[in-house]
Amino acid sequence: MKNELILNKPDDMHLHLREGEILGFVLKDTASQFARAIVMPNLNTPVTTVALAKSYYHVIKGYGYNFEPLMTLYLTNSLSKEEIKKAKESEIIHGIKLYPSGVTTNSKSGISSIDSCFNLFEEMEKNDLPLLVHGEVSDPKVDIFDREKMFIDKYLTRICKNFPSLRIVFEHISTKDSVEFVMNASSMVAATITPQHAMLSRNDLLSGGIKPHNYCLPILKREIHQKAILEAAISGNSKFFLGTDSAPHLKSEKESSCGCAGVYSARTAIELYAEIFDKNDSLGKLSDFSSKFGADFYGLPRNQDKIRLIRKDHEIPHQLEFKNNHITPFLAGQTIHWQIS
Ligand code: NCD
Ligand code: ZN
Repeated sequence: MKNELILNKPDDMHLHLREGEILGFVLKDTASQFARAIVMPNLNTPVTTVALAKSYYHVIKGYGYNFEPLMTLYLTNSLSKEEIKKAKESEIIHGIKLYPSGVTTNSKSGISSIDSCFNLFEEMEKNDLPLLVHGEVSDPKVDIFDREKMFIDKYLTRICKNFPSLRIVFEHISTKDSVEFVMNASSMVAATITPQHAMLSRNDLLSGGIKPHNYCLPILKREIHQKAILEAAISGNSKFFLGTDSAPHLKSEKESSCGCAGVYSARTAIELYAEIFDKNDSLGKLSDFSSKFGADFYGLPRNQDKIRLIRKDHEIPHQLEFKNNHITPFLAGQTIHWQIS
């Protein structure tokens, strides 16, 4: 039995760092494990311009960690082709994120007509700037468990067909349909996988009492989907790589009559993935998933620094202190078997 694991320092290819005081809290957790992260642009004032992305970048760098934020722009209908060119030239912006309007936290400035963005996709393709998608339709009439599949059928298939050279990251996939879609798509299409979608099904959200800390978007699905996501993660297929979608919300805002969507996994992220791969006899494949495939897809050099994990039981804290409130980490109170050392 392996008791030690040395990995090239991993990259988190989908992360919410937020802004203000909570940014410092989150960044400390992420920077202690990851070399880089694709930083989501869904701030209260979304990061819609190169100037906003640059200023957010400098705020993050200002904390002084040995950590590189890989910035993204929030796609809106007012994004111009010039701004896309400028984004590519900036060298700090690595993708443009599409949120269908109203689909998730801070997405009201998102896109209400995806078809009207096709000229922008063309410009992104020309500039080789990846499109990152929150792949769910936001139509409130569509059943929440069907929104991801519907997005593939209604939009993603067409986007891939019309822009064969556009790199696309299908973020935080949650269904078997998405796994199959990505596997059958060209090498320009990849997907990120979160710990929660690989570990949990909707029973962990809804059976035996509602578990608001397992509520995230896309919502957890049936076990058959969870198994497909897990299989994709440990498959060794380079189209699937690590993206936590760690998204902190205050405990009081999750345990509420209208609780926020988002799971905070950054405190133990790489340990959780080690747990997943180990449990499925695939530890040897973790470093490609965590530290190589994502970098390769984004055209970034692989990290050369190393991190060390050891086999050691430890309990995930029940809650983390934050100001006069708390943040509940993913799998709070549960014991995991790998620890960063
Ligand atoms: C994210 C957040 O809170 O910003 N929430 C979530 O449930 N994943 C937004 C997102 O990625 O959908
Ligand atoms: Zn996210």
